[in-house]
Amino acid sequence: MSRAVLIYAHPYPDRSRANRALYDAVRTLPGLDPRPIYDLYPGFAIDIEAEQAALTAADFVIWQHPIYWYTVPALLKLWWEKVLAHGWAYGHGGDALVGKRCLWVATTGGDPDAYSEPGMHAHPFSTYEPVVRQTARFCGMVWETPLVLHGAHRVSEPELFAFAGTYRQTVIDLCKCEPLPTEGLAQAIPEPRPAAPTTTPPTPSR
Ligand SMILES: Cc1cc2nc3c(=O)[nH]c(=O)nc-3n(C[C@H](O)[C@H](O)[C@H](O)COP(=O)(O)O)c2cc1C
Repeated sequence: MSRAVLIYAHPYPDRSRANRALYDAVRTLPGLDPRPIYDLYPGFAIDIEAEQAALTAADFVIWQHPIYWYTVPALLKLWWEKVLAHGWAYGHGGDALVGKRCLWVATTGGDPDAYSEPGMHAHPFSTYEPVVRQTARFCGMVWETPLVLHGAHRVSEPELFAFAGTYRQTVIDLCKCEPLPTEGLAQAIPEPRPAAPTTTPPTPSR
């Protein structure tokens, strides 16, 4: 039996239709620790120790949020920057998340046609996935097949609840999985390289 931590990042939870239905479908499942970070940290002062303790206690991690400007909402980005710290989540000694499964659950306003070359968003949605996937992978986490609900404003109630049911069943199934072995995986995590300078410093003039 695995334990899950759900990092739920909706900037306006009271106005949510789709994410609220999805969140409600899973938040009371046994073995799941729901962390609605916009409720926990309205002033963006993330309790890093509490978040890291919740991650440590879990065998798999869920990031659930609406897509904002093609990526995660601001507080989840800050959560990545603060919680996934060097020496803890990556880099020398940073193996706290190695071998944990990671499930990404996202909703979009754009419908599937909008995520195509002639569509409003010009690129397939898979173009926007690598940043999230690689964030998980860089910390040694194992990427699960994401659950993405497109056209979140337009989907019918039956479609929304069918998707919520799939999400709930996915979490139940992942909770039934044995935690993944972590031995040997830590060595596979790359140490980040210092960034190459992109500009030449100006030569002082007299
Ligand atoms: C500031 C902002 C940025 C958004 N950016 C995108 C976007 O880049 N792509 C997209 O498909 N939808 C975008 N949306 C729409 C949201 O993804 C959509 O409202 C949400 O998924 C609906 O879920 P909810 O009912 O839980 O709020 C954006 C909405 C807001 C308010």
